Amino acid sequence: MVESIITKNPSIGVEINPLGVLISRVKTTPLKPRELESSICRLLKEYYSRLGVLHLESGVHIDIECDRLRYWFKPAAIRDLAILKELLVDCPLEQDQAILDFLKVCFSETVRRASNSRAGQFKLHRLAPDKLSRHRPDVPGLFTSILLSNYHRMTEFYNCVCLGGQTEGARALVLEGDNREVDVPEKADLILTSPHYGDNKTSISYGQFSKLSMLWLGYKEEDIRRLDRRPSKSCTNTSAAQISRTLSGVVDKIRRKKESRARSVTAYFDSLYESLAATRYILNQRGIMCLVVGERHVTGTRIPMVKVVHDFMMDLRMKPIAKLSRAIPRKYLPRQNDTVETINREFILAYADCARS
Ligand SMILES: C[S@@+](CC[C@H](N)C(=O)[O-])C[C@H]1O[C@@H](n2cnc3c(N)ncnc32)[C@H](O)[C@@H]1O
Repeated sequence: MVESIITKNPSIGVEINPLGVLISRVKTTPLKPRELESSICRLLKEYYSRLGVLHLESGVHIDIECDRLRYWFKPAAIRDLAILKELLVDCPLEQDQAILDFLKVCFSETVRRASNSRAGQFKLHRLAPDKLSRHRPDVPGLFTSILLSNYHRMTEFYNCVCLGGQTEGARALVLEGDNREVDVPEKADLILTSPHYGDNKTSISYGQFSKLSMLWLGYKEEDIRRLDRRPSKSCTNTSAAQISRTLSGVVDKIRRKKESRARSVTAYFDSLYESLAATRYILNQRGIMCLVVGERHVTGTRIPMVKVVHDFMMDLRMKPIAKLSRAIPRKYLPRQNDTVETINREFILAYADCARS
């Protein structure tokens, strides 16, 4: 969507995770550097002044719904984050919603980096005891440096989009919800999507990944947990294994090893098929749909995503027009887990309507 704005093409994005929606809205809303700078200065001034006073009084109000707060954060981090939460979430100092959202995104990254969770992990895991005892996150320092680097990025984006007399770029609309249910107001000429890579046992568990930040931003624990369940839940009775023979073979192989894993893989592919069908529905007749997919393993069995997605797209009357492959240059997750490689390469598959010549 950022590239769409820069190239002056209107775009629409759909995302189920509220934190993903917040980040996308911030990344697609150019902010005037001067106004942003003065908001940042005002916030930091107030924050550092409250830190000084409250350190002395040690009377910080901690209002966060999290059962294991002290497991995931050290007491000093909780206190310093709670002051920020008050300034950004409970009684925001900033009145401009777009700037406030920018500041919340910076807060969200601060929470992740100040937490006791391990960086580069498959799931949410606490630091090993030796690392935990040495872990002394400097919340004000982290927040300040994240603010500064995001401020520079935003300035670069603003200059790219709004300089030369223009005050805004192309329209970018970010919709929150499950793409199988969300009403997208217009059809698209080009769709670019990276569908979820799998159910949460074998791939990125998006809810877990964003959980700590979302709790500090005021979301309820139960709603966050639902994020990892919802995408795999099928809305209809579509049987993806009947559409793709490759998939049905893979599911049989997994079933021989573990019945429950076969069930979750089946549910994941049923929902993926529905997601692709809903996406295809909003494509203009002469449009192109590009999918970024990675191949993962379940109980040691490789899931041939490219072939399965191809079978789905053929069923949706789409024909392949290009396939690119690339090594993922940088990733948050490890490249290898206990038994197999995680997703280190991804494929970009482009499809067009069968009727297109
Ligand atoms: C592989 S990530 C891609 C993230 C981002 N769109 C990008 O391209 O960098 C998949 C994203 O799809 C979202 N997602 C999963 N199922 C969804 C659904 N049914 N509707 C909307 N978003 C969904 C997840 O929350 C996650 O952010």
